[in-house]
Amino acid sequence: MTTPDKDLIAAELDRARARTALLTDAVDDDDLTRQHSTLMSPLVWDLAHVGNQEELWLVRDVGGRQPIRQDIDHLYDAFKHARRDRPTLPLLDPAEARRYVAQVRDKALDVLDRVRLDERPLVAGGFAFGMIVQHEQQHDETMLATHQLRSGAPVLSAPPPPPGDRRVRGEALIPGGPFTMGTDTDPWALDNERPAHVVDVPAFLIDVAPVSNAAYAAFIDAGGYDDPRFWSERGWAHRQEAGLAAPMHWFRDGDSWMYRRFGHVEPVRMDEPVVHVCYFEAEAYARWAGKRLPTEAEWEKAARWDPATGRSRRYPWGDEAPGPEHANLGQRHLAPAPVGAYPAGASPLGVHQLIGDVWEWTSTGWHGYPGFRVFPYAEYSEVFFGGDYRVLRGGSFGTDPAACRGTFRNWDHPIRRQIFSGFRCARDLP
Ligand SMILES: [Fe+2]
Repeated sequence: MTTPDKDLIAAELDRARARTALLTDAVDDDDLTRQHSTLMSPLVWDLAHVGNQEELWLVRDVGGRQPIRQDIDHLYDAFKHARRDRPTLPLLDPAEARRYVAQVRDKALDVLDRVRLDERPLVAGGFAFGMIVQHEQQHDETMLATHQLRSGAPVLSAPPPPPGDRRVRGEALIPGGPFTMGTDTDPWALDNERPAHVVDVPAFLIDVAPVSNAAYAAFIDAGGYDDPRFWSERGWAHRQEAGLAAPMHWFRDGDSWMYRRFGHVEPVRMDEPVVHVCYFEAEAYARWAGKRLPTEAEWEKAARWDPATGRSRRYPWGDEAPGPEHANLGQRHLAPAPVGAYPAGASPLGVHQLIGDVWEWTSTGWHGYPGFRVFPYAEYSEVFFGGDYRVLRGGSFGTDPAACRGTFRNWDHPIRRQIFSGFRCARDLP
């Protein structure tokens, strides 16, 4: 990747803000301040939190400027208040929040104009700006997930994704041997993606596409939710306690499956990757299918390793930034694309749709790579290492390209499924 210059940084900040505006202007003030699910913040919290992080990092730290609203820092500190409690806080109202984020942005752009990007590690390659762009885009994805949980008439629209291709099926063989995982060179890579290190991965088979709704419906029809043999002990306990019987947002209409999507009720499209399943459901499906989930290293090797050069690519298709022909990213469509929709995005070994569509659960817990160093703050990644989390990879249709690459790592609790999470299976060589 070329080193981001000031024009590119300003354009990326703009693009993130346009998306934030789209997601928050689409609903009225009541919708912005209401909590649509106890799993989520009110949208107006996300909005002002995005501005507050930008103030802390770009205005105060990088710019060395006076605080704009130090008095509200504690309200928007994600560590101080759980999501469920955020509606009871004396938050900025929608008009105040919009004014605040605009004021912060003016100052941040002024800081960008004056700063020297080679001054210190925090701003080298525009890192702090890139971190804030990714932070805003990640909250935009969270806000999109809140939209999916909101009841009421549809307020978002997008064209349908490109058609699928039934020939994309089966498994790819990933040969054994070392490959380079993580990165030292990607200018906006976060601390948890670093450093680059060599991992020896034995040969394995991986599904060429994420598990489809058709395949997942077959698991349901086969009684997969009622047979503890397919579930881990914890998974089975959770399946019973939470009453899981199908992916989130699915319901029966006679003999057919329907889902609710951003306010629309539609028949489940059988050729789409399954989405809104938790780790335990993914694990049970894989066992039922006689397979397992890939490890994080297996996923990354399948996504990045080029056997012709021995190099790890930035994306499955190469090093160039994702275009609409490569992957379903950035909320361009409001659904995962059917299996086989992105032949130009396949990896050298023929694995499709690793980037975009659905986040993919891996069997690996959240941890730091060997040689991990906190940068620039422990609360981004390190404080979560070793917790009850599983790594997810690849991004979803709601992930912006700025916050998605072959090395990007996400993590969540194994019971979570309000996120745009799906999976693909792997297995050892017979
Ligand atoms: Fe945040």
